[in-house]
Parts: sequence; C-alpha cells; structure tokens
Amino acid sequence: MARLEIDNLTKRYGDFHAARDVTLDVPEGEFLVLLGPSGCGKTTTLRMIAGFVEPTAGSVKIGGRDVTMLPPWKRNTGLVFQNYALFPHLTVGQNVAFGLEMRSVPKAEIDTKIVEALKLVRLDHLIDRLPRQLSGGQQQRVALARALAFRPDVLLLDEPLSNLDAKLRGEVRVEIRNLQQRLGITTVMVTHDQEEALTMADRLVVMRAGGIRQIGTQQDLYERPSDHFVADFVGRSSFLKGTMSGHDLTTRGGLHVRCAATVEGPAVMALRPERVFVDTKPIADVENTFEGKVEFVSYLGGMIDIHIRLSPEDQVIAQVPNHDIALPGVGETVHVGWAATSAVFPADADLQE
Ligand SMILES: Nc1ncnc2c1ncn2[C@@H]1O[C@H](COP(=O)(O)OP(=O)(O)OP(=O)(O)O)[C@@H](O)[C@H]1O
Ligand SMILES: [Mg+2]
Repeated sequence: MARLEIDNLTKRYGDFHAARDVTLDVPEGEFLVLLGPSGCGKTTTLRMIAGFVEPTAGSVKIGGRDVTMLPPWKRNTGLVFQNYALFPHLTVGQNVAFGLEMRSVPKAEIDTKIVEALKLVRLDHLIDRLPRQLSGGQQQRVALARALAFRPDVLLLDEPLSNLDAKLRGEVRVEIRNLQQRLGITTVMVTHDQEEALTMADRLVVMRAGGIRQIGTQQDLYERPSDHFVADFVGRSSFLKGTMSGHDLTTRGGLHVRCAATVEGPAVMALRPERVFVDTKPIADVENTFEGKVEFVSYLGGMIDIHIRLSPEDQVIAQVPNHDIALPGVGETVHVGWAATSAVFPADADLQE
C-alpha cells in the first residue's frame, strides 16, 4: 500500500484529449472511484497509472517515487479488467503464478503466495481448475487473487464487475471492498455504475470529456454538486431551466422561482426528488410553492415517484415514502413546494435539450 499522486496527467491522440490535466492525490488505503459517462477518459487515466498508456504530459508517483517512465511490471500495481483476462489454458494456480513470475519472485515462495492469494478470495480449493470450469464470479475472483498475490502498492480495477449478473455483482462488490479494507490497499476503480460507485468508494471523482469535474465523498457530490453536469450525473434531479436575474429564476414556462444563490443569465435549478414536497393543501415554510397537475405516479415499493407538471415547460418529480397514505391520482391538482436553497447553476449548453 502506498500513496498515489497524479499530477496534470494528460493523454492526447492528435488534437483529441482523452485525458486532460488529471490531478489526484490518493492517500494510502483509500478506495477511490472514477465515475463518468462512456468515453470520458476513465480507462485512459487508469492505464496511464498502470503504465500501459504513455502520458503526453504529467506524472505519476507511487509511494513518493516517480514511476512515470517505468514499465508496468516495475510499478507494483495490480490490475483487474472487465473481461477477467485469465489465460484459458492455464490453471487457476498457474494464472495466479503469472504475476509473481513476471516480478521474479523466487520459485520457493511462489507456491505459498499462490495459496495465500487464493485463500483471500476463498478459492484455494479450486487451484487446479481451468478458467472455463469456473463461474464468472469465480473467474473474476481469480483475477483479483492474481492482482493481489504480489501485494501491489496500488490496486487498479477497470469495471471489474460489469460482466457479472446483478446478484453476483452485489456479492463480489462486498468481497472486494472487505478485502481492500482488510489489506488497507490503495485502490482506484473505474465504473460507470453509479450505485456501485456510491456503495464502494471512500471518495469519488466525476469525469467528463477527459477532465475532472468534481472530487468528493458521496455526500459532497449529492448535496453540493459543483455544476449542472454533476447534479445531472450523480443522483436524480428535476431541472427547472430559465433565466436568472438577481435571486429570481424565470423558467421557460414563466414560473418565478426564488433562489438563495444567484447566477447571472441562463440558469438551472436542480431539485432532488425527496426535497420536493407535495400536498393537497398549500405547503408552508418553503419559499417556492406552486400548483401542478399529477401526470404520472410510479410505485417503487418503499418509495413513490410523483411526476407533476407545473407549466407546459416545467415538470418536477417528488419522491415520497410509501406510508400508506392516499396518493394523488393522475390528473389531480396538487400543491408542490421546495426551498430557495436548492442548488442553482449556470445552464450547461451541452445538457440542454
Ligand atoms: N488508442 C486510442 N486512439 C485514439 N483515441 C483513443 C484511444 N484510446 C482511447 N481513445 C479515446 O479516448 C476517449 C477516452 O477513452 P477511455 O477508454 O478512457 O474512456 P472510458 O471513460 O473508459 O469509457 P468507457 O466507460 O466506455 O469504458 C474516447 O473518446 C476514446 O475513443
Ligand atoms: Mg473504459
């Protein structure tokens, strides 16, 4: 385990920036997740840390040592990819041995280390099987054992769970997280699965178009998204779009919405569905109250989503706990309210429909 420092890491292909000025400081033992839409540069960043992609600029330090110019096998990073990448003709034990042999671990130690690593993922009894004689989840755990066998300073995981079915994904997720905490191993994982990111990470990095948009804990991202994109990408929000003047947002549909913060010009207010209140009578104690028509009610078990139309251009979703209350029916008029302290951002032109 070690601290990982990435400074202004950049990868250009011709004029195109696959990653741009990525700077991260990952303390020893942290589980950091890179999250972002397809093509935003997550894998490129991870591969630059591992040494499989040569950066155009910037540096990578592991445990205070600059490894930017070192080949992958001299960086002491363990890697697990989406598609297991086990050698099909080698047994489980031989697959795990591979990483150790690459690093010239003495022969006498290899056998012990293989068993140790397989015990970590509870697969030591399958040491002589071939990959095709294992389930997907077991194969992925072998890949994990292979990455951990030489006790890497940094563990790098690129969508390690995306080929597994939902139930297995949940199990292996917990297993990886427990193991990572037990070993105290600094870990960077890439995913575009929000739930996975939120449940596993100590901190998250939201990327877009090669760059970092926000770094923070789950609460930071959810409660204080830095911009329109992050508010849209992490968690759910209803966006009221319009033009702002002072503390007044005039929406496209002509509503006047009071905002605590202020942004000049084209702006959006982001409303988390559980912060939108619905009632049959006017809502007290919030600055913004409107009447709207229920368009759609979606029953989610413990929670219920109520989609409410406020104007031809403005719609909000309210999420209410399922407390056995009478739900408004489609077409009914209801009162809706939310606080002026809800987030407002300059409108991101790329996110306007
Ligand atoms: N060798 C390459 N040559 C040119 N462009 C590349 C190369 N490798 C990656 N890119 C481009 O760089 C961008 C970032 O790719 P990357 O694989 O890092 O995305 P990602 O965030 O991992 O996406 P996904 O979630 O789909 O895996 C993409 O637009 C991709 O097309
Ligand atoms: Mg990728």
